[in-house]
Amino acid sequence: MFPVTYRRDEHHQIFIGGTSVKDLAETYGTPLYVLDYATMLQRIRQFQSALDKMHPPGEAFYAGKAFLCTAMAGFLNEQRWGLDVVSGGELYTAVKAKFDMAKIVFHGNVKTPEEIETALRYGVGYVVADSLDELLLVNETARRLDMQAPVLLRLTPGIEAHTHAFIRTGQFDSKFGFAMKDGIHDEAVSVALSLSHIKLKGFHAHIGSQIFEEDPFVHNAQKLMGFVLRLWEQREFWPEVLDIGGGFGVQYTPGDDPPDVERVLLKVNQTLRTMTPSGCQAPKLLIEPGRSIVAEAGITIYRVHATKVVPGGRHYVAVDGGMGDNIRPALYQAVYTAQVDGKSVERLFPYTVAGRYCESGDILIPNASLAPIETGDYLVVFGTGAYNYAMSSNYNRVPRPAVALVSEGQSKLWVKRETYQDLLSQDLPWQNLG
Ligand code: LLP
Repeated sequence: MFPVTYRRDEHHQIFIGGTSVKDLAETYGTPLYVLDYATMLQRIRQFQSALDKMHPPGEAFYAGKAFLCTAMAGFLNEQRWGLDVVSGGELYTAVKAKFDMAKIVFHGNVKTPEEIETALRYGVGYVVADSLDELLLVNETARRLDMQAPVLLRLTPGIEAHTHAFIRTGQFDSKFGFAMKDGIHDEAVSVALSLSHIKLKGFHAHIGSQIFEEDPFVHNAQKLMGFVLRLWEQREFWPEVLDIGGGFGVQYTPGDDPPDVERVLLKVNQTLRTMTPSGCQAPKLLIEPGRSIVAEAGITIYRVHATKVVPGGRHYVAVDGGMGDNIRPALYQAVYTAQVDGKSVERLFPYTVAGRYCESGDILIPNASLAPIETGDYLVVFGTGAYNYAMSSNYNRVPRPAVALVSEGQSKLWVKRETYQDLLSQDLPWQNLG
């Protein structure tokens, strides 16, 4: 829930990465996203240590959709991690960050012909085909470019992880991939193997996000290996890689109980190895963690602008951000933990934290437990590193906050705060059509 460097001093001031929330707010303004370098590094190392223990060693592709900017891509490249991108925009970010293109997986249920061509020209490591139409398009594009496209087929294994319906992806009735049912997956393999400019490297199956149990990950691996074994027997096709996506849950509230990542991954790898027939090498395991790398590294600092008690006694506290910088409470009923900077956490009271956007539904935390809070205080919301900045908007023409990185008492901007000029940068003046 908290960044690994979180601490409070004797005046209850909150510090992240050795930097006080107050200093960060005064230096960069609010609302402000802050990312803790040490937490991201710790998470990366945790995954990497499990991947290094595998035979053959596994490989990680951070899911850029959770949080991506040029500096983040640069940081990942430095860690020798790969990147999962889902759009031309994410790909362009990687290109600008001089990312190693061979370490890119290109995902998405819709990729435009231009995006596919760009990805192939840049030499991405894998294109994940999501439909037969797309497989044909990738083949045609690769033929034009006189190359072989490295392809994974996205499969839906029919595994329902217990997570919010909007972020569940493993079930058969899904807009993603080829169902492992009624021979749909067999047909996809037949088509892929028949196409002269497709090099089928393996399979992908991401079953959902914010998953707490271990079993769905293991079942996914078993299901994929069962299919792979059948393909080996029937066609002598053996995949180089199996990609199980991301989805490892994180802690947003004290009640959340995330899985032990290392244990899950080693169990998955064990499944791959024990189900591999003699004479074959176990497929290399690929993973795509997003949330589990950045969520708990991130906090958002808001300034309190008003408090009020309404008839019935509810105590509202209104902050200078909201659904524009964190849509998750409104979209998924996501629950966050918050603290007031500079105040003891000994005696807490119920508050409803409201955002600044013109909607009654813009409630950041419906049932927050906070120290007595006043206008002018800084409110820190924890666990906002994933899918907050990434899903932010300019609703109500509010500029997006800045993103600052903190480490060992230093801070640096990764993304500048948007200005009013930025908001207008794509606008054209009014002109009469007549
Ligand atoms: N790989 C694929 C193919 C995915 O679709 C996703 C997430 C990931 C990896 C990364 O999953 P993670 O490790 O972050 O759980 N906006 C939602 C989450 C949507 C997840 C979409 N796919 C939220 O805020 O909860």
